[in-house]
Amino acid sequence: MKKIAVIPGDGIGKEVMNSTLKVLSAFDFPFQYEWGEAGDETKEKTGEALPEETLELCKKSDAVLFGAAGETAADVIVRLRRELNTFANIRPAKTFRGVKSLFEDVDIVIVRENTECLYKGIEFEVEDAAAGVRIISKKASQKIAEYAFSLAKRERRKKVTALHKANVMRKTCGMFRDVCREVSKRYPDIEFNEYYIDAACMYMVLDPWRFDVVVTTNMFGDIISDLAAGVVGGLGLAPSANIGEKTSIFEPVHGSAPDIAGKGIANPSAMILSATMMLRHFGYVDEAEKIEKALEKTIYEGKTTPDLGGSLGTEEMTSEIIKNFDS
Ligand code: NAI
Ligand code: MG
Repeated sequence: MKKIAVIPGDGIGKEVMNSTLKVLSAFDFPFQYEWGEAGDETKEKTGEALPEETLELCKKSDAVLFGAAGETAADVIVRLRRELNTFANIRPAKTFRGVKSLFEDVDIVIVRENTECLYKGIEFEVEDAAAGVRIISKKASQKIAEYAFSLAKRERRKKVTALHKANVMRKTCGMFRDVCREVSKRYPDIEFNEYYIDAACMYMVLDPWRFDVVVTTNMFGDIISDLAAGVVGGLGLAPSANIGEKTSIFEPVHGSAPDIAGKGIANPSAMILSATMMLRHFGYVDEAEKIEKALEKTIYEGKTTPDLGGSLGTEEMTSEIIKNFDS
């Protein structure tokens, strides 16, 4: 039995969470759901955006399904990612037939180290200059490289590409590169290659099909995951996962969308795809594929919410997805 903390949060977070639980309930997963409160409304009610109770619930769960927070997002989700020690940020970039994008048939998963690099925030001023310290450890690099290869294996993917700039940042990127090479030797069935991050950005917009699983350090990963999102048509359908040692968080990239909240027209896809990432994480790859295929078909048929050009509401689109399970 897996314990899943369900945190719908604010605005459309609640609406897309409802849809997602409906989709999951069409299967018979051994999941035990427990609800937690967080976000703007919770803060108004209790004075705290992320009550201790919710934090404890998350800590004792195997996974957190998170909808979206509003203005308190930094106090809720950013804090949650830190409290749960999520060492990997996973952002798939996949095209959907029927969604406008620059390319077709792109299917990339970006695995970003999430704890160190320049984002550790070690910065200081010395007279008229400011400096930042880039920390790259062997341990964190091993963990992220191992995660990328095991994900590739689990998801039957063929290639892992490491991105770095070891020709210039010889020590930090050099260490990351060496660790990736070392880990790759243990996965002889998965092709391994490397690019310098700058060249990789060019390839991403000229020939994105050369990427499958991408593994990189924190800041490069932040930048290239947004670039990849642009390549597949924007953030509209973007799910994400924050992988922790014990508990992992699965959440759409979008926020609480106050402009459309309460209207029943939020697109549930990003939240549903975040849940299929959770299924994959737990090894339910076939079930995840089934849901993703049904979602793809629904989008292709134009049975979508207005943001994708359709005229359905959130609940109607969800029903269409569930109908497509059997086709
Ligand atoms: P947003 O992602 O909430 O909305 C941006 C635009 O995309 C809006 O026009 C919205 O209607 C649309 N949109 C987003 N998700 C959609 C969906 N599922 N279906 C249809 N349309 C969708 O970002 P914004 O407007 O910058 O922020 C709104 C609030 O959300 C803010 O309070 C912000 O702090 C919070 N936020 C929370 C995040 C989180 O909890 N992870 C992430 C980003 C923003
Ligand atoms: Mg970013």
